[in-house]
Amino acid sequence: MQLFEPGPFHYLNNKLFCEHKSVEEIISTVGTPSYIYSKQYFTERFKEFDEAFNDVSHSIFFAVKSNFNLNVMKIFSDLGSGLDVNSAGELYRAKKIGTDPSKIIMSGVGKTKEEIKLALEYNIKLIKAESLEELKIINDVAGQLDKIARVAFRVNPNVDAKTHPYISTGLAENKFGIDASNAEEIYKIGSDLKNIALTGLDMHIGSQITTTAPFVEAIEKMAELYTRIKSFGIPLAHFDIGGGIGVRYKDEKVFTPQELATAIKPIIKQLNCEIMFEPGRYLTANGGILVAELLYTKKNRNKMFYVTDAAMTELIRPSLYSAYHHVQPVVINSERETIKADIVGPVCESSDFIAKNREIQQCQAGQKLAVMSTGAYGMVMASNYNGRRRPPEIIVDGDKFYTARGRESFEHLLWDEEVIKEI
Ligand code: LLP
Repeated sequence: MQLFEPGPFHYLNNKLFCEHKSVEEIISTVGTPSYIYSKQYFTERFKEFDEAFNDVSHSIFFAVKSNFNLNVMKIFSDLGSGLDVNSAGELYRAKKIGTDPSKIIMSGVGKTKEEIKLALEYNIKLIKAESLEELKIINDVAGQLDKIARVAFRVNPNVDAKTHPYISTGLAENKFGIDASNAEEIYKIGSDLKNIALTGLDMHIGSQITTTAPFVEAIEKMAELYTRIKSFGIPLAHFDIGGGIGVRYKDEKVFTPQELATAIKPIIKQLNCEIMFEPGRYLTANGGILVAELLYTKKNRNKMFYVTDAAMTELIRPSLYSAYHHVQPVVINSERETIKADIVGPVCESSDFIAKNREIQQCQAGQKLAVMSTGAYGMVMASNYNGRRRPPEIIVDGDKFYTARGRESFEHLLWDEEVIKEI
């Protein structure tokens, strides 16, 4: 069985540690299932990304959809990051931690009038529009508020990001953005709207992209478009290349921010504008683990099942995208043999699995298992299906740990729901 030890997650005397804290010790206090994050990991990734572009005018907007725990958002915000929010709910979180409005940008393929109004009232840096129809609504709402809305169109470059089809967003067949072929026309129409200032151009071609080539291809196309739009007299000031930088979950060969910088700097430097990034997964995925308890082991015919107290409700990525996550014991016993098992949860769906046909050290009920690389799109996609209470989120900082969000209670499950006598 191969162990995966990203960044500050490492084994010491056969015990898994996050930074200087033993995972076993944390779990003995908070129980399972629980998410555990490393502040050191988040900090190092942010700095690494930032430094790779230090000779270009740039800003990073952490895509909070990947992990919107208030304290995780605050860690990035304190490092100087901006925040990319995708809904009024995420904006609410950004406000809650007191983020400077000039450091918030809003994405979203179907923003409601309420969301647009809230964004404009808070005076955020930028709203990214996904259609001319939406731009007109933004113009109307801004007019009612007597404001000028700063907007960038998200342009779909029609580039294949070569990732899972569910998280590929930059192909013409995807729902995202305006078509690159009529972007110039749309910018011209949009620039005449009274309450709109078209300040930039935006793209986001997909997620978990493992080579720089799709970025280079899309950025080349968009840089050309950017220059043409500027030549019409529309004073664009920023180009947002989105997020999507892939990470290692299994044995993927991924690129570093430095390699991305080397590949795209020759193009972006020519634009002489602010370059914006919206990384999510890169900053958070390998900075988190989900710890589960093995409840039962059983053999049906020839197949071994390890039933854990974590399920698709805690981590839906395996069920939804057949995503791979390393699963390894929190305490390893090198004398045990390696077997193959399906690691599954208690939810009443056959699609409820954490790992299939996976090599793992033979374990017994009561042992704790770490599901690695779950700092991104883990807790944020958790649900209450089957009446399950969502897990807590713990942040480790050196040899201390903090409960950044507690475990849900039964009361949480019934929030604002009551039995109506008349029914
Ligand atoms: N910007 C925009 C407009 C996005 O839609 C996304 C992600 C990002 C930035 C951040 O992308 P990242 O750097 O994290 O790849 N639930 C899926 C991933 C969905 C990504 C959605 N958009 C998963 O678990 O793989």
